Amino acid sequence: MAKENSAKSMDLTNGEGETELFQAQSHLYKHIFNYISSMSLKCAVQLLIPDIIHSHGKPITLPELVSALQVHPTKTSSLYRLMRLLVHSGFFSTTKVVVDDQDEEAYVLTSSSKLLLKDNSNCLSPFVLSMLEPAILTPWQFLGSWFGGNNITPFESAHGLNFWDYGEQNSGFNSRFSQAMASDSQMANLVVKDCKPIFEGLGSLVDVGGGTGSFARIISQEFPHIKCIVFDLPHVVANFPDSANVNFVGGDMFRSIPLADAFLFKLVFHAFGDEDCVKTLKKCREAIASKADGGKVIIIDIVINEKKDEHELTEAKLFFDMLMMVVVTGRERTEKEWESLFLEAGFSHYKITPLFGLRSLIEVFP
Ligand SMILES: C[S@@+](CC[C@H](N)C(=O)[O-])C[C@H]1O[C@@H](n2cnc3c(N)ncnc32)[C@H](O)[C@@H]1O
Repeated sequence: MAKENSAKSMDLTNGEGETELFQAQSHLYKHIFNYISSMSLKCAVQLLIPDIIHSHGKPITLPELVSALQVHPTKTSSLYRLMRLLVHSGFFSTTKVVVDDQDEEAYVLTSSSKLLLKDNSNCLSPFVLSMLEPAILTPWQFLGSWFGGNNITPFESAHGLNFWDYGEQNSGFNSRFSQAMASDSQMANLVVKDCKPIFEGLGSLVDVGGGTGSFARIISQEFPHIKCIVFDLPHVVANFPDSANVNFVGGDMFRSIPLADAFLFKLVFHAFGDEDCVKTLKKCREAIASKADGGKVIIIDIVINEKKDEHELTEAKLFFDMLMMVVVTGRERTEKEWESLFLEAGFSHYKITPLFGLRSLIEVFP
């Protein structure tokens, strides 16, 4: 009987051996449970584990972590298990320390968890918390039926409103999302100084869909001669005060965009379908044509390049692409796909500078 079963299963798997099948099972289970990696990371951020390790000032042992976190002593082994997974995923690392003449294991930060520290100017914790909140996770349950022909996004199926309207109605969601985007933008402070040729010569710039203005502030600090307008939906920019070089303007980019020497779109086009992008780019093209001294569009966004990018980078880009499919109407694009948008909107050439890890900077010229 056992023989018969094994023969049957061999038939079903095209003659693959048991080793391959068990590897395939592990591969499958790893992906089924990938959400456990994300949710465990979220838990570490909620508990402020990176900050606690940092403020401890030296590697922290499990009992020290238990005491600093004030978790119930009965949860000690559970905390050990959480940390074991997070070490395995590369968010923390361990080292040996000597406690009462005994070797003990202690936790330290890695480059990834250093990016989650509250007092790091490049803290990405708001991004972790916003992207893993229930309002963003629930729509994934609707993706399968969306392929069956549903015209509204999985996000709208889940919440009855599209992403932007949902943000307008839910101020907490809107503010967490805006903070997440601001934290993502903040990383640009590492490279904007290398972009002199791109921003030099500009007297004004409108950051379309500029959110909280964190990117515009980085630009205006690095290039104080540029007057920046942060243009976004009225409810997004409602509570931000203007400063000397950064003014907030509420509006809808599909109706009209304030005039400036350059139009900047950071992570905006990836949230919209081709038709909407071309419509907006055409508006910019017309505005540039009406200016005596020219102008350009600057885009900071993902460019998918599976041949050139490392596996992990491509995977992150493809995750963003799927996120755009589920929560909005957008997509991540290859260089060819970007090019066809630019040509259709009446632009003649463009230049891509891969600067921001996941994101590239694209200048688009009339
Ligand atoms: C993915 S976020 C990017 C935010 C910011 N540029 C950044 O990188 O941090 C997209 C932004 O586009 C804004 N947006 C969406 N629809 C818009 C519209 N019709 N007009 C103006 N801004 C819009 C959103 O409110 C949001 O701030």
